Amino acid sequence: MKLVKFKKINKKLNFFQLKDIISIINSENRTSILSKLSKKNLTRFIQQVIKSNYLELFVVTKRRIIGYAILAKKPDYLLKSFKKFQLEFCFNLFLNFKFLTIFNIFISILNFDKILISDLNKKIISESLNLNLLGINKEYQSRAIGKKFLEYIFKYSIHKSKYVTCETDNIRSNSFYKKKLNFKSIGKKIRFLKNQDVLAKKL
Ligand SMILES: CC(C)(COP(=O)(O)OP(=O)(O)OC[C@H]1O[C@@H](n2cnc3c(N)ncnc32)[C@H](O)[C@@H]1OP(=O)(O)O)[C@@H](O)C(=O)NCCC(=O)NCCS
Repeated sequence: MKLVKFKKINKKLNFFQLKDIISIINSENRTSILSKLSKKNLTRFIQQVIKSNYLELFVVTKRRIIGYAILAKKPDYLLKSFKKFQLEFCFNLFLNFKFLTIFNIFISILNFDKILISDLNKKIISESLNLNLLGINKEYQSRAIGKKFLEYIFKYSIHKSKYVTCETDNIRSNSFYKKKLNFKSIGKKIRFLKNQDVLAKKL
């Protein structure tokens, strides 16, 4: 843990910082929609997150960036900031034959992806902080950095909420959230080819 620091990013990232985050997204968050975007669009999206009043970008540094997380005040705000680039992103995805990703974006915009979730839990999801993405560089995983990073984020986020929610699509991250941070499953979001488990934690 020596030299490992956590911080919130408030100003535009430089070339190397962006390169570090994009490399973590592409290696650790390979099933996410963001990892399917071109480098140029991913850069625009990250810079937009920093500018937004409703989204926050946190990083873990050890000289370079070795981890990152994106937190939204509510899930809707993430879709809204995505909407600005929606057409261009979809066109870019189309040219790269990422048809399933386009399909998943549309079912999410139309709220069709939440039909398996109870009304009460839908309300919790729509009104809570959402941890949209999280990744720690492979070399530094399993050293309790992820757990401490999230505790830092929940303490220092400027947005206050009763719950924080997140989505997982693999057993390892699911057990990280449940065993290390006390998240509980509250339903499934439809995604082709693999549904996501929606988790929530009381803050
Ligand atoms: C999930 C993740 C953020 C956890 O960060 P971390 O620094 O490894 O977390 P911690 O050291 O605090 O806790 C590790 C625990 O998380 C779980 N875990 C989940 N994914 C893991 C991974 N890829 N490598 C190691 N542990 C992982 C294990 O239960 C592990 O427990 P163990 O070390 O006793 O085996 C990180 O492993 C990662 O970036 N994984 C790939 C991306 C991802 O799944 N992101 C979350 C969904 S968006």
